[in-house]
Amino acid sequence: MIDTFVPIKLLSRVDFPVFGRPIKATIPDLFIDVDSRLTYASCYSLFVKNLSWLPPDLRQRLKTIVPKVYQESVFSSFSLERPTTLRTNTLKTTTEDLQKTFKMGGINVQRYRPLPDAYTLIGKTTIRQLTSLDIYQKGYFYVQSLSSMLPPLFLEPQPGQEILDMTASPGSKTTQMAAIMKDTGSITALESNQVRVYKLLANLKIQGVENTKVVRTDARFFWRDHREKYDKVLLDAPCSGEGRIRFSDPSTYTHWSVKEVKRMHFLQRSLIFSALNCLRPGGLLVYSTCTLAPEENEAVIDFALTKFAGRLEIEDPPLTLPNFCPALRSFAGVEFNRSVQKAVRIYSDEKFEGFFICRIRKLG
Ligand SMILES: C[S@@+](CC[C@H](N)C(=O)[O-])C[C@H]1O[C@@H](n2cnc3c(N)ncnc32)[C@H](O)[C@@H]1O
Repeated sequence: MIDTFVPIKLLSRVDFPVFGRPIKATIPDLFIDVDSRLTYASCYSLFVKNLSWLPPDLRQRLKTIVPKVYQESVFSSFSLERPTTLRTNTLKTTTEDLQKTFKMGGINVQRYRPLPDAYTLIGKTTIRQLTSLDIYQKGYFYVQSLSSMLPPLFLEPQPGQEILDMTASPGSKTTQMAAIMKDTGSITALESNQVRVYKLLANLKIQGVENTKVVRTDARFFWRDHREKYDKVLLDAPCSGEGRIRFSDPSTYTHWSVKEVKRMHFLQRSLIFSALNCLRPGGLLVYSTCTLAPEENEAVIDFALTKFAGRLEIEDPPLTLPNFCPALRSFAGVEFNRSVQKAVRIYSDEKFEGFFICRIRKLG
């Protein structure tokens, strides 16, 4: 359709209506057809829609991984700004009281009823306005994506239990679990990156969490001194982030490479091996990532099932949402253990980031 392109330079941030919503982005090179009568905006829209801004390998892969019926919604979600969502910190307030406080302050929020204590920000309030509120600084709520709220709900921590959070910073899920546990029992939160340890400690303090001990360590080796010690383990693993791609934020895709996916796969294998060794028999592990890459999801669970043969059982999710999809049966010619299909895939859409969540019981 467009074959004679010349690059034009855009040096400032631009504001374009794409798919009915304005998006902001800095586009260093935009290719436009000199001879065509296409308007600049429609060239731009085409450019966004055909995903040519993504690394070519990633573009190809996504078309293979994402089932055809979800492709339209996944690919158009890349250029949408999802509404800001937040979770009440029930250690400091109740969802009802928080809603009243928002109302008095002129902040429009709407309960997201399928998840406990979750809200969507509506109307004109910006995230900047939200985070400058006194009740934000005091930790009455936590800004967190809907997908990110799911792994702790899959883990179902109970008051009094001993929980291990393998890769914890910045602490969205640690603070959520502490709130569910009413700040009782104990959470051991591991993090290898010192700067992120500070971030985690700061968030725990703001949220008023006291049942959590932070350990700066490489979680791959934690099992050596902590075998079968924990009732439940959350492994919200570092990943390539394919579920968080946003056109307006190149840092979400420019670092992506097949090599990085492979590196993550081996890191995740070491982490899940350590996590399962830390878990007491009868205990529960939740493995989650924010990527769509099967190498980092189904293949990691498949590895664990082989490594701990006969000692693990994949469980059904404890809750369901209409956008939950079963995990893949196979990818790139590799067939996964049949039970892996009980894990949940969430394909990115206008509300949810792409996620993968699996609940694994260590048999007694
Ligand atoms: C996906 S983020 C975790 C997000 C966190 N669970 C939350 O909900 O806020 C992964 C974290 O794992 C940390 N990490 C990476 N490799 C690690 C390792 N070997 N041991 C411990 N932490 C690690 C990263 O620094 C990063 O903070």
